[in-house]
Amino acid sequence: MFICPICNQKIDKIDKSYKCKNNHTFDMAKSGYLNLLISNKKRSKTPGDDKEMVIARRNFLNTDIYEEISKSVNEIILKLTNNKKMKIIDIGCGEGYYTSKIKEKIPNSEICGIDISKEAINLAAKTYKNINWVVASALNLPFLDNSIDISLVMFSRFIPEENFRLLSKNGYLIVVSTDDMHLIELKKVLYDKVKIESVDIVDEAKDYFIHKETKKVNYNKKLTSNQEIMNLFNMTPYKWKTKKEAVKRLEKINELEITIDVKIDIFQKMEKK
Ligand SMILES: C[S@@+](CC[C@H](N)C(=O)[O-])C[C@H]1O[C@@H](n2cnc3c(N)ncnc32)[C@H](O)[C@@H]1O
Repeated sequence: MFICPICNQKIDKIDKSYKCKNNHTFDMAKSGYLNLLISNKKRSKTPGDDKEMVIARRNFLNTDIYEEISKSVNEIILKLTNNKKMKIIDIGCGEGYYTSKIKEKIPNSEICGIDISKEAINLAAKTYKNINWVVASALNLPFLDNSIDISLVMFSRFIPEENFRLLSKNGYLIVVSTDDMHLIELKKVLYDKVKIESVDIVDEAKDYFIHKETKKVNYNKKLTSNQEIMNLFNMTPYKWKTKKEAVKRLEKINELEITIDVKIDIFQKMEKK
């Protein structure tokens, strides 16, 4: 399924290593993941989410507060696969909550979770077996051209041209992103002026993909402990851009009603770019 990140040749599994015909070798980690991220002087030595974020996300997602999102994504993928065995990749999969739910729902799929964070992939690999876990960047994915049936990007870095390259003819792309009202109540606690920041995924994808449909997932949930609230905060990018005084305000709250407002955009690969 993989290509060598150095020379782009196919890599084959030999015992606990992968090797290409140019003898570039990549060892599987003890927990069972493969690291195909090549060092880059411009990049941090530990790119992607750090351990604290990964653990916060694991603890938050395991409460199943976001289960409706997972269920909607699974229904879409189930329909697209139409009982055929398909190759599915989850790009920027984090600690693997959504990836593992896809495998549970569609056990005959060949599924691979990719993230640039070693901490995230290590935790995913320790927890969920029967899934290929790979450390790699969304900008340079270790797959052959036209080799993947469905690619999924959930709240993560979306690179249209790279998804176009690796998807097979008529392959599907699913992008899950936050919509205007997502976590508005959390933002109101943190910021005096709440900015509505929407991303136009359909516009970003328009040169490479035909937009088929947008599905909305919108509901409310009550968080009933400060631990849940802090886990949610620590798994979002707000963690990096919030002033200390605002974090202190959040630390005093034990209950918070939140709006979950998410879009799922379904695309199909264009015949030609
Ligand atoms: C907001 S989290 C979403 C994780 C997971 N999809 C989920 O919804 O639980 C974004 C993830 O993208 C990863 N990430 C950031 N930049 C990336 C890149 N260039 N390539 C691959 N993953 C990346 C981060 O490490 C993080 O795990």
